[in-house]
Amino acid sequence: MTMQYGPSYVRQIAPYIAGKPISEVAREFGLDEARIVKLASNENPLGMPDSAKAAMATAVAELGRYPDSNAFELKEALAKRYEVPAEWITLGNGSNDILELAAHAFVEKGQSIVYAQYSFAVYALATQGLGARAIVTPAVKYGHDLDAMLRSIEPDTRLIFIANPNNPTGTFIEGPALEAFLEKVPKNVVVVLDEAYTEYLPVEKRYDSIAWVRRYSNLLVSRTFSKAYGLAGLRVGFAIAQPELTDLLNRLRQPFNVNTIAQAAAVAALGDRAFLEKSAALNAAGYRRLTEAFDKLGLEYVPSFGNFVLVRVGNDDGAGARVNLALLKAGVIVRPVGNYGLPQWLRVTIGLPEENEAFIAALEQALAVG
Ligand SMILES: Cc1ncc(COP(=O)(O)O)c(C=O)c1O
Repeated sequence: MTMQYGPSYVRQIAPYIAGKPISEVAREFGLDEARIVKLASNENPLGMPDSAKAAMATAVAELGRYPDSNAFELKEALAKRYEVPAEWITLGNGSNDILELAAHAFVEKGQSIVYAQYSFAVYALATQGLGARAIVTPAVKYGHDLDAMLRSIEPDTRLIFIANPNNPTGTFIEGPALEAFLEKVPKNVVVVLDEAYTEYLPVEKRYDSIAWVRRYSNLLVSRTFSKAYGLAGLRVGFAIAQPELTDLLNRLRQPFNVNTIAQAAAVAALGDRAFLEKSAALNAAGYRRLTEAFDKLGLEYVPSFGNFVLVRVGNDDGAGARVNLALLKAGVIVRPVGNYGLPQWLRVTIGLPEENEAFIAALEQALAVG
């Protein structure tokens, strides 16, 4: 008999499905790596900003030593940007690290965590990894139903995860609705507001969640350098919250969870407003192009506020996998979302103009053949 190690709640976790690496697709389908287009992981198609590359090159000289565990410079830069004390900031090895730290810091095994159907997969992972109970509220129009989330709070609920904009659906909750929600959440329940895509929001949709952090001691705002800042491979995310929360995160956090190169690159990227603006403009133009193509093809899509679009590629539950395979054969990697309960849909990251064109051409062909 084979041994079963670990708690049952860990054995029940479905492994996280990441976007396929370019090298793997090249090998599997006999394609030239250079011609493969990867629009699968919501990365910035511009890659890293030059400002960050230069800072990283300098930081290489420091690698014989451990990183600054308290990340003095990066925290100072963030504190200045967001006008909060440095103690209100916690750094993570990507914001995924923050999400998991929050679950472990604020929730005990057996207590419950609330999140929405079709919201980011890591919320389920963090909940299960802890042996906590998930309360998943049904989505409305593929997005969060805040009233249902409020109603679903139970006496043992300790945490609520909200992604705004949401991944993989791209939906957005308007600022006033979120604020009204925060006002009603019991103070013993921590709200993690995951704003991984916030830099892509058009100006008229932006809201000041840091002002809410000052007002609500149970709010933690999570952000990342992986998306608009173009540093996904370096793994830097951060949380802003009042010290009652950040103190606990800091106790649990691995002391060197953000490495020296990542810290230096993040400081440089944070100061590079021009790169952010360029990234957001490229994304907005790409969104227009992709959705125009979907309209032409008669494909339903969910209006998106992130750097990706969820598109329905057929009306049968084999559609997502079928069209995904055809796209892979044509050298285009997107993300099937059957694991989210969306087997008729694919999530495509908005790329460079030529990448978007390659995807559209491959999609047209896949649908014509399929
Ligand atoms: C909603 C959301 N939150 C958090 C993350 C985590 O990003 P990272 O760990 O790279 O900061 C992602 C990445 O896809 C995301 O979509």
